[in-house]
Parts: sequence; C-alpha cells; structure tokens
Amino acid sequence: MSELPGTLAEYAQRASEVLSPDTAAYFLGGAGAEVTLAQNRCDLDRVSILPQHLRDLRGGTTSLDLIGQRMAHPIIAAPMAFQTLLHPDGECATAAAVTAQQGHMALSAQASQPMADVIASGPGCVWFQMYWHGNRETTLALAHRAAAAGFKALILTVDAPVNGVRDGEIAAGFSPPEGLGAVNLNGLPHPQFAPLHEGESAIFDRIAHVLPRWDDVAWLCDQSPLPIILKGILTPSDALRGVEAGAAGIIVSNHGGRVLDGAVSSIAALPGVVAAVDGAVPVLMDGGIRRGVDVFRALALGAQAVLVGRPIAHGLAVGGAHGVSHVLRLLRDELEITMALAGCATLADITADRVTHPFGAA
Ligand SMILES: Cc1cc2nc3c(=O)[nH]c(=O)nc-3n(C[C@H](O)[C@H](O)[C@H](O)COP(=O)(O)O)c2cc1C
Repeated sequence: MSELPGTLAEYAQRASEVLSPDTAAYFLGGAGAEVTLAQNRCDLDRVSILPQHLRDLRGGTTSLDLIGQRMAHPIIAAPMAFQTLLHPDGECATAAAVTAQQGHMALSAQASQPMADVIASGPGCVWFQMYWHGNRETTLALAHRAAAAGFKALILTVDAPVNGVRDGEIAAGFSPPEGLGAVNLNGLPHPQFAPLHEGESAIFDRIAHVLPRWDDVAWLCDQSPLPIILKGILTPSDALRGVEAGAAGIIVSNHGGRVLDGAVSSIAALPGVVAAVDGAVPVLMDGGIRRGVDVFRALALGAQAVLVGRPIAHGLAVGGAHGVSHVLRLLRDELEITMALAGCATLADITADRVTHPFGAA
C-alpha cells in the first residue's frame, strides 16, 4: 500500500481532501464556533514532557490490563457513528484494522453495520456504546442485545441529551443519506417525545422525560449484564457520582467538541477527575489525541488509556481497513518512540512528574 500517507498529519490532510464537503463537516467539524474542538488540541500542547535520560528500557512494553481486557497498547478506537459514510467497508473495516493492530474498539449505537458482522470482522470490537434509549426497559433490552452479541462492556454516553449546534453541518447541508441508519437499534421502540404545544419549549417540554438521571444510571449499572463505562464526564463531582452509581470506568470526554461548545477541554478536565476517582475505577480520556506524544500526555495526567475518533476517520476515509491499521500503527510507534525518548519503559513509568502543565487537580 505504497500510496498510503507516511504521517498522521498527512492522513488528516488527505481525509479533508477526499471527503465530500458535507461528510467532512460531519466527521471533522465540531459544535458552534468550534472553540472546544480547538481547545482539545491546543491544551494537549500545553503539557510539556520532562525527559529523563539513560534509563533502563529493556523489556519495554505498551501493554496493559483494562476492564477485563489484556491490551497490547492503550489506544482504543472511539465509538463513531455511520462509518460507511467514510468507506463502504465501514465499521467492519475498523474492527478488522484494530484487531490487526492488537487493538480494541467501541462500536457506536449509531453504527451503520450490524453488530454481529462487525464482531465477526474483528474480535477487537469489545465494547458497545449506547445512549439512554427513552426508558429503563428499552435501554436494558439494548444492553442485553449487546451482551448476547458478545460485547464485553458497555459505554453509556451521557454528554449528549440533545445534539450540539453544528454550524459546519448546517452550512454544508449535511443530512444522513437515504438507507443509512442505526441498524443495531432496529426493533427497539423509539423514545416517545411529548407532543409540542404552542408556546412550550421544544426541547425541555418534549424530550426531558425520556432523558436519564443519576438514579437511572445506578439502576442500569445494577441491572446490566455487562459492566458500564460512563463516557462524557468532565467534572470531579460527576465522576464521583458515576463511581457511586456503580460505573466500571469513566471516560473524560467532550464528545470531540461536537456537543457543548465552550466546554472545558478533555485534557484540562482530566487531572481533577483522576484525583476525585482516586483509583476506584479506571479513567480514560478522549478528545484531540492526534499523535503518540498526546497519548503520553494523557497517560501522564492519569488516564489509563485513550480513545481516538477523528484519526480513525482519517484512516478509513483515505485507505479503508489498511488506512485505519496504518494510523493505529503510527500512533503506537510514536507512543513507543516518545516513551523511549522520555525514559519510560512501561506505561506505569509515565507518571505525573514526567510532565509540567497548567491544569489544576480540582
Ligand atoms: C463523526 C463522529 C461521530 C461520533 N459518534 C459518536 C457516537 O455515536 N457515540 C459516542 O459516544 N461518541 C461519538 N463520537 C465521539 C467520539 O466517541 C469521541 O469522543 C471523539 O471523537 C474524540 O475526539 P477526537 O475525534 O478528537 O479523537 C463521535 C465523534 C465523531 C467525530
């Protein structure tokens, strides 16, 4: 595959060239003025590494154990909707690619291909991401559907009770093409919105009753056949509530800047969440990870692993499964190079004192 780009930056550039403007707006853009989208990146650059030289790097490894999985590296493909828009092979290609790189993936509730097909394409597809589906009964039915398909854990995304205002998509006229749908939700009853009466709020009055609250999360953690990882947490207090509710993990995330524009960047939020959770459950992070050095930065601030969204989209758009596999290889190689240059042989060596940064712990 000599035509594949040689660097991660080149993948990002090529993806923006090969995608149609409306698909590029959907996958690459963010909400509002894209302040949070940009902040995710630039705040990562404010974490500076303090390299320590002449360390013993023999036996170096990027492997870890996380929520029941042995992982060769801490770079997980984030749940991302409608991947057949990027390449006809869609989520199946992503699953095959992450598996080829001994990696792991979360399948979005809004995936465009059936979960059984995706798992069959690559057993590295171990987590299923879901949103609250209108009420307890239907949400639990979806959890059981995922468990029966063979997933090992569920990600409950809690940061998107409504869609963000995505100016770029509106300007580009993005709408899902005919025939594209969240096939894994087929057969589940749709959340029933209340009728809209004149003078009422279209959002609060119509949909608030189908949104979850903390007692629903605690109930789901108790009832679910699989461990629940909460995604979209940005504050120490929410992280603590998640732990109290029974979550098996916390993902510090602002949905890649696609929901609340103006929200704190993920990397800035990470130290406070890590301090609050205090080791009770693993903390993961996503948002703005574009290079191996960013993985190192997030791990130094206390994440056990990271998820990557747009880089997977870049790889899939540019080269299908080969592209995703190559992107993951580049990320992993860059992480190993960063570790070697910083004097860290294992992920456990990537401790807080290996970096300086301006973000407080609370
Ligand atoms: C096009 C697109 C679709 C996404 N769909 C979902 C989704 O269905 N569920 C979810 O929890 N997160 C979704 N996300 C958010 C990602 O899981 C992840 O939080 C984000 O992409 C991380 O930021 P990054 O793209 O800068 O790596 C989506 C992100 C993108 C870019």
